Amino acid sequence: MRLLRTDPTRPDPEVIKTAAEVLKNGGIVAAPTETVYGLFTHAYREDGCVKVFKAKGRPMDNPLIVHVDSVEMASEIAEIPEGIRGVLAQLWPGPVTIVVKSRGVVPRCVTAGLNTVAVRAPAHPIPLAIIKELNAPIAGPSANKAGRPSPTTATHILEDLGDEVDLIIDGGPTFFGVESTIIDVTRKPPALLRPGPFTVEELEKFFGEIQIPPVARGLAEAEVALAPGMKYKHYAPDTMLVIVHFDLAEAVKVLKARGLKVAVLCAAGKCADADASLHLGTDLYEVAKNLYKSLRDLDKLSVNIGIIPAVEERGIGLAIMNRIRKAAAHREAFSPEQLLKYI
Ligand code: TXA
Ligand code: MG
Repeated sequence: MRLLRTDPTRPDPEVIKTAAEVLKNGGIVAAPTETVYGLFTHAYREDGCVKVFKAKGRPMDNPLIVHVDSVEMASEIAEIPEGIRGVLAQLWPGPVTIVVKSRGVVPRCVTAGLNTVAVRAPAHPIPLAIIKELNAPIAGPSANKAGRPSPTTATHILEDLGDEVDLIIDGGPTFFGVESTIIDVTRKPPALLRPGPFTVEELEKFFGEIQIPPVARGLAEAEVALAPGMKYKHYAPDTMLVIVHFDLAEAVKVLKARGLKVAVLCAAGKCADADASLHLGTDLYEVAKNLYKSLRDLDKLSVNIGIIPAVEERGIGLAIMNRIRKAAAHREAFSPEQLLKYI
């Protein structure tokens, strides 16, 4: 494994060339995007794709996102409906992934044999430069081990994947900290498969009404997955985590009275004294940015339980609630009595 560092705003051309070489030879490269770090393969190489699944420990029926630099490149691999080309030209590059019909150009490994494909153009100079240098799309999931929080720094990749990656490009912490918004535009109206930094409120200005199924809120695991990844467990720290909808100080009090060591994940202006505290931020964009690191840090504290306040489910708050519901294995407490049922 090689680790190369570069300025995320002006990537070193030598680093980009090295990454493209590794990908051309069927190797895999971890690199930042504006959301989280990705683990990339040349999108047309079956061998590289298989390596990504192996390194990540990801079930082969959970497809990857194909990253492109333009609507034109997306059109090489997918049928982009005429009506949304103009919209995509405005949204991309950015943290919006669309599910569209595949042209069958990328190997089955990438799409997990589906006749649709997820595509996005990342708003980050490093992956965009790699795609340009390669003159081909790159496919990849988030660069975490399956079931771990997505990596927002290169250190997280070293923790999870280390030697299993050919090259890690350290471009510093990622900007948004949660994965892209995914919408399935093969459905009418389009369906939100995963909330992300690009909010539904904003997307509706471009696409009209968007359907938000309960799974997109993280409320239930999909029985028949709209996005194949929905049926898999995600982001669960080893430490029990509970979402608290009432006063945090009250929650800490009842847990301490049971002799438990408690950590509070302070967010959106809500905090309380406890055995440990992790500060995610006041602004919801700050909370999103620090969320995955905090979930990793929670397991490094010697506490019995972590509690995190619920946030308002609008804007990026929808993505935050989706991720923390999964991290909390759907444990949510609206009262002290309900909280005590979990311990
Ligand atoms: O921000 C992001 O989207 C990051 C960066 C690296 O681009 N990537 C990411 O990839 O989060 P991943 O693999 O961790 O999540 C992609 C999700 C999975 O839940 C997968 O099931 C879903 O996209 N997906 C991929 N192809 C699909 C398809 N054809 N239909 C429905 N869902 C699909
Ligand atoms: Mg992921």
